[in-house]
Amino acid sequence: MRKIAIILPTYNEEKNIEVLIPQIFEERKNPTISKLWDIEVVVVDSNSYDETKKTVLNLTKKYPQLHLLETKKEGLGKAYLEGFRYAIEKIKPYVIFEMDADLSHQAKEIPFFLKKIEKGADFVIGSRYIKGGSIPNNWQWYRKIFSLLGNLIVKFGFMKPSINDWTSGYRAIKAWVIKNSLYYIKNYSGYVFQIALLDFALKNNALIAETPIQFQERKWGNSKINAFQYSLQIIFYIFLNSSFVKFIIVGIIGFIIDFTISFYLIEFFQKPVWLSTLISTETAIISNFLLNNFWSFSYKKIRNNFTAYLKSLIKFNIISSGSIIIQTLFIQGGVFIFGKKLWLLYKILVIILVIIPYSYFLYNKVIWKDNN
Ligand code: GDD
Ligand code: MN
Repeated sequence: MRKIAIILPTYNEEKNIEVLIPQIFEERKNPTISKLWDIEVVVVDSNSYDETKKTVLNLTKKYPQLHLLETKKEGLGKAYLEGFRYAIEKIKPYVIFEMDADLSHQAKEIPFFLKKIEKGADFVIGSRYIKGGSIPNNWQWYRKIFSLLGNLIVKFGFMKPSINDWTSGYRAIKAWVIKNSLYYIKNYSGYVFQIALLDFALKNNALIAETPIQFQERKWGNSKINAFQYSLQIIFYIFLNSSFVKFIIVGIIGFIIDFTISFYLIEFFQKPVWLSTLISTETAIISNFLLNNFWSFSYKKIRNNFTAYLKSLIKFNIISSGSIIIQTLFIQGGVFIFGKKLWLLYKILVIILVIIPYSYFLYNKVIWKDNN
């Protein structure tokens, strides 16, 4: 038998928790679970002022595999962090679940997460935005738009279109992934820790899977989320941690270097245009290569030896030459079909629509290889 630890963070959830805990333990009878898995539940309560604590303590009499952990009120991320630590130390689980305690997440969906784990996934996201998943029908329009838009921003900010629900709080994660991530997620005490944990798992090559969930409107009590603050934290997180955003910034720096060197060599030092261009573009290419290696893709940087660097730098030059050729062809094509007047527009379009996807894709596949 393998152990599962389900972490339930609570802040004033007396009515919900009383219903949810028996539902979770009821799942032990499900054949998918009973054959392979043993369930333990850890309620992490941040000093609720209602009867949450008392209710849980009462239930521990009936369910010896129920634990109550009390923490200070320092945010959802912090509550989970303490729950993770407790579970890893006391329960030694194979899989850890994140689950809301307000009945938004349905216990009957637990077996679907486990099926994905049994098939080899390390990190299963309960996804509202894939086929079979849903958000409550009666959510106000602005709440729907907010949730959809939020996910879209994260999806494109990280350029990971394959993941459909970044913010979901219903997840099954192998304990080794969580164990390795503790030092990292401890810096994110609010709801944004959800994004940080998934980002960490991706960067450490955990195998990600999604299973549809039907998110229910909470029955009693209020949501503690501050949507505005959460959005700001998410945007800030993406800005500081997304390889894609850093890659774009490096591209802009490269352009400035290229332009400045050319300008000085041609205008001040009266060097031939071809030589100046050669020197300025190659300097920009080398600077882009180094900045991407030590910053944008630092979590998968090239092995620290000279030949590995040289090989990658040559490949990087070939990809860069490719983008020069592509740009020239597209712009010339535009001039040929629509005339010369709008050349700057063609250039901007080709950079955004072709060069950026082309380079980002090849950097990830050839130079800083993805294992996913
Ligand atoms: N211990 C503890 N401490 N628990 C907390 C705290 C806290 O500071 N803040 C919230 N919780 C508990 C709540 O009691 C509930 O069980 C769970 O965390 C989720 O909190 P809600 O306040 O109900 O959040 P939500 O429904 O608005 O947000 C859900 O959707 C988000 C985005 O779609 C959650 O699933 C989030 O994790 C998710 O990111
Ligand atoms: Mn909720």
